[in-house]
Amino acid sequence: MVYVLRLFVLWCVAAGFVHVYVHAQVQTGYISIDCGSPENFNYVDLDTGISYTSDESFINTGVNRNISSEYAYPNNPMLPQPLSDLRTFPQGNKNCYTLRPNGGKNSLNLIRATFMYGNYDGQDKLPEFDLYLGVNFWLSVKFINASDVVTTEIVHLALKDTISICLINTGKGVPLISGLELRPLDKSIYEIDDEISGSLVLFQRFDMGYVNGTGRYTDDMYDRIWSPYTSPSWDSLRTSIEIDVSGDGYRAPNEVMQTAATPKNGTESLEFSWSTSDSNAQFYIYMYFADLVRKNQTREFNVSWNESPLFGNVRPRVYRASTFYNSKALVGSEHKISIGRSGSGNVPPILNAVEIYRVQEFSDSATLIRDDDAIDDIRTTYKVSRNWVGDPCGPKNYSWEGVLCNYTISNPPQIISLNLSTSALTGQIASSIGNLSSLETLDLSNNSLTGPIPEFLENLQLLKFLDLRGNQLSGYVPQSLLDRSRTRLLTLRVDSQNLCDSGSCQTKKKKVVVPIVASLVSVFVVLLLLIIIWRIKRKGKTGKENSNEEGRALESNNKQFTYAEVVNITNNFDTAIGKGGFGTVYLGRLKNGSQVAVKLLSTKSSQGYKEFQNEAELLMRVHHRNLVSFVGYSHNDNKMALVYEFMANGNLKSYISDRSVHPLTWEMRLKIAIDAAQGLEYLHHGCRPAIIHRDVKSANILLNENLNAKIADFGLSKGLPDDHTTHILTNVTGTTGYLDPEYRRSHNLNEKSDVYSFGIVLLELITGQPAIIKNKDHIHIMHYVGPHLEQGDITSIIDEQMGDDYNLDSVWKAIEISVACTRSMSTQRMTMSEVLTGLKMCLEMELARGSRNKTNYVGQKMAVLKMDHSPEVCSMDFDLMTGISGR
Ligand SMILES: *[C@@H]1O[C@H](CO)[C@@H](O)[C@H](O)[C@H]1NC(C)=O
Ligand SMILES: *[C@@H]1O[C@H](CO)[C@@H](O)[C@H](O)[C@H]1NC(C)=O
Ligand SMILES: *[C@@H]1O[C@H](CO)[C@@H](O)[C@H](O)[C@H]1NC(C)=O
Ligand SMILES: *[C@@H]1O[C@H](CO)[C@@H](O)[C@H](O)[C@H]1NC(C)=O
Ligand SMILES: *[C@@H]1O[C@H](CO)[C@@H](O)[C@H](O)[C@H]1NC(C)=O
Ligand SMILES: *[C@@H]1O[C@H](CO)[C@@H](O)[C@H](O)[C@H]1NC(C)=O
Ligand SMILES: *[C@@H]1O[C@H](CO)[C@@H](O)[C@H](O)[C@H]1NC(C)=O
Ligand SMILES: *[C@@H]1O[C@H](CO)[C@@H](O)[C@H](O)[C@H]1NC(C)=O
Ligand SMILES: *[C@@H]1O[C@H](CO)[C@@H](O)[C@H](O)[C@H]1NC(C)=O
Repeated sequence: MVYVLRLFVLWCVAAGFVHVYVHAQVQTGYISIDCGSPENFNYVDLDTGISYTSDESFINTGVNRNISSEYAYPNNPMLPQPLSDLRTFPQGNKNCYTLRPNGGKNSLNLIRATFMYGNYDGQDKLPEFDLYLGVNFWLSVKFINASDVVTTEIVHLALKDTISICLINTGKGVPLISGLELRPLDKSIYEIDDEISGSLVLFQRFDMGYVNGTGRYTDDMYDRIWSPYTSPSWDSLRTSIEIDVSGDGYRAPNEVMQTAATPKNGTESLEFSWSTSDSNAQFYIYMYFADLVRKNQTREFNVSWNESPLFGNVRPRVYRASTFYNSKALVGSEHKISIGRSGSGNVPPILNAVEIYRVQEFSDSATLIRDDDAIDDIRTTYKVSRNWVGDPCGPKNYSWEGVLCNYTISNPPQIISLNLSTSALTGQIASSIGNLSSLETLDLSNNSLTGPIPEFLENLQLLKFLDLRGNQLSGYVPQSLLDRSRTRLLTLRVDSQNLCDSGSCQTKKKKVVVPIVASLVSVFVVLLLLIIIWRIKRKGKTGKENSNEEGRALESNNKQFTYAEVVNITNNFDTAIGKGGFGTVYLGRLKNGSQVAVKLLSTKSSQGYKEFQNEAELLMRVHHRNLVSFVGYSHNDNKMALVYEFMANGNLKSYISDRSVHPLTWEMRLKIAIDAAQGLEYLHHGCRPAIIHRDVKSANILLNENLNAKIADFGLSKGLPDDHTTHILTNVTGTTGYLDPEYRRSHNLNEKSDVYSFGIVLLELITGQPAIIKNKDHIHIMHYVGPHLEQGDITSIIDEQMGDDYNLDSVWKAIEISVACTRSMSTQRMTMSEVLTGLKMCLEMELARGSRNKTNYVGQKMAVLKMDHSPEVCSMDFDLMTGISGR
């Protein structure tokens, strides 16, 4: 009854004033939950046209409540329908919604949560509670009064197929939620800096220069809510002409772009500011510009942040939108943006819209995947009826009931205790329990478990407490568990029928086992003798040098040096030839006269013994003529060193930038690229498991005296697990400028991250510019190259050191390859094998030129390429940029 009346009134409002209907067809991928609405109650909100569903398929805890009539319709006719009811969680400290974005893992989504207390419980007591996204803190929800509506939005990259949104009871009232919405975003937008792992929480989103808008627009495909905003010192510009918003992925709605703010006093700047209490707060600002006037005018302005330049000489295009945003976070508690005329500008600046986001650091990791998978299997096997939702271990202190975890700083949490006592479990002991390798306590007492006591419990090496009493288990406790309990390593609680008193339970199996064990023992003894003999012999040869026991893991055919030898080889570290994340590299000379490079692990190094060992082990496994070869290593007295072949011409990065050496011809550059590609191809496709280098860059490509290139520095490499997984989750490492944007966001590592970095190296070879071009405002090489490619003009970016001594088709082909290496979606990138084939074709084209008359060649390029990267590239051929509003 109430709903019917309400619909009627709203219909009149909608028809009479504004049209804010989001059509069903643009709601693709939308998840719109009206929390607390009756089961199966799905409806279209007539204010917005959005189809809401009730929450039963997203959560199975909590209770539905209606807000108090005082705050509801008809006493509050403007209340949006989703806010009239809510779901509260009187039970449990952690309750989570599980959302499945259409785009699945790695999709970028805007998630909006809405809360209104509305005195639903008649207590007139405002609750306070925390909102988490997965295991990471999002927001503390606090209300000003009962009718206060708290709304928060986050731009989040899904790390799994599901996203859990959790409400945490912090002891200050029962958590509640009114609405939860998810909107899929284009993955190319709202990018943040390489070094930051976090998500963007909306701070403000303004539609500038106009106050009559509704804030929510049909033509916003992402359903953002824009707050109309103006200031007494501003004028509004408006147009009814449609604005072209297709220039980039941000797609501010037409209605938002059709209005803009401009200073009333045409000679002043447009300014606005904001502040927070946190002086480490990091902000990203997205400014939308489109000129709304077509006259003989030059609108040009500079945008500055706290008096330092942010964007220079911005010229908005007429009726075409473009977006400008900072590529490095703005850090601080006070922020002032100022947009003032510059250059030949003869009209005041404008600003159409602005979004300000704060970075919410997401540094806590989810439960170790091994444990997460195992416990999830246990949950489904036994249909555990507890509130087991969200991450099993996180957020910290809010693990699942009966689950305890070990939280260490450097590793994902692991499950160390599982208590399923008195939980009505039936069937056998689930084998996935055996996968919880860190388990110290296991309590399965007082259930109806049947079947044998499984052998896999023996594999739980850390188990200190095991309780299986009160079940109908058959068979006996495995011998090794009994042994451990006798030596008090394990507290064992089992029913008496499962214990075998000596003799009565000798199985036939044991008799078979004995001879095998015996023969194994004798083989072992023989081996031991052989090893001892070999050691004695070896000692005789090398004296007392090889006393180091820790070096065992690294034993191989390669030579192990003592520290004294290293000092000798390097002539007491006389000549340093390089410095890396690992330590300093010194020139050395072996007794046989050959030169070597000695990499000494610095004690202050952020990387440590683990990486050292990782590198040493990898180096021993891989041999290829395009990989720097390994001569030996030293690991004595905590001083570690790696000895490599010496590469006379240093690294490619310094070679390209060194104007004193003879410049590389296009042919030489191609050969270097092919060498490096062969090295990588070998790592990716010639090694099992495949090896991902993780830090491919021109500084890690070394050149020998013949300018043959070899790949160096496996310090960050990591073997791929040799199973069906095609990528692994790790912490992001690598070098700015070369880092695969997809890896950076998702932390999913696969070979294609190396391919991306290789594409950047290829661009460096073509342009002679570094990955981050310092003398051009620290612009990224792709942003430097992008606009030229779009115009089909590459001669101006080809390294001028090559003169015009190259086959243009060959260079174009190489550029195409680098474009295909650096696509933002890793699946669309080439493999190293394809890259290699392509580069060999480039070389053939270049070599063919030598045999032909140069002037025959007419430089006609292929189809115009479009770089697939950040929207910054697209904006660069627009001659515009802009700033924001003020007061
Ligand atoms: C909330 O109000 C609606 C409409 O009156 C009613 O159908 C629903 O049962 C109420 N829900 C609760 C939990 O009281
Ligand atoms: C609740 O707080 C808001 C914001 O301060 C205010 O506008 C509103 O009038 C208050 N409502 C009541 C019922 O006090
Ligand atoms: C907003 O609408 C009112 C009434 O329609 C009108 O008087 C006012 O001028 C409008 N304001 C702007 C900034 O367009
Ligand atoms: C506009 O601003 C300039 C500089 O601040 C000032 O000199 C001028 O008087 C102002 N004009 C008006 C009309 O207020
Ligand atoms: C446009 O303005 C410039 C300078 O303000 C002037 O030189 C030029 O003649 C004008 N062009 C037209 C078509 O009015
Ligand atoms: C605007 O920015 C450009 C480029 O950064 C700079 O050269 C110029 O001096 C600036 N102009 C003003 C008025 O600040
Ligand atoms: C977890 O609990 C411990 C002890 O109860 C407390 O010291 C710590 O601050 C809590 N951590 C969080 C993140 O709540
Ligand atoms: C937690 O893990 C760390 C590192 O693996 C280990 O040293 C520590 O003993 C563990 N703590 C518990 C309570 O298991
Ligand atoms: C497991 O939980 C039960 C019931 O909550 C409790 O009685 C028992 O002591 C717990 N077991 C362990 C090992 O903590």
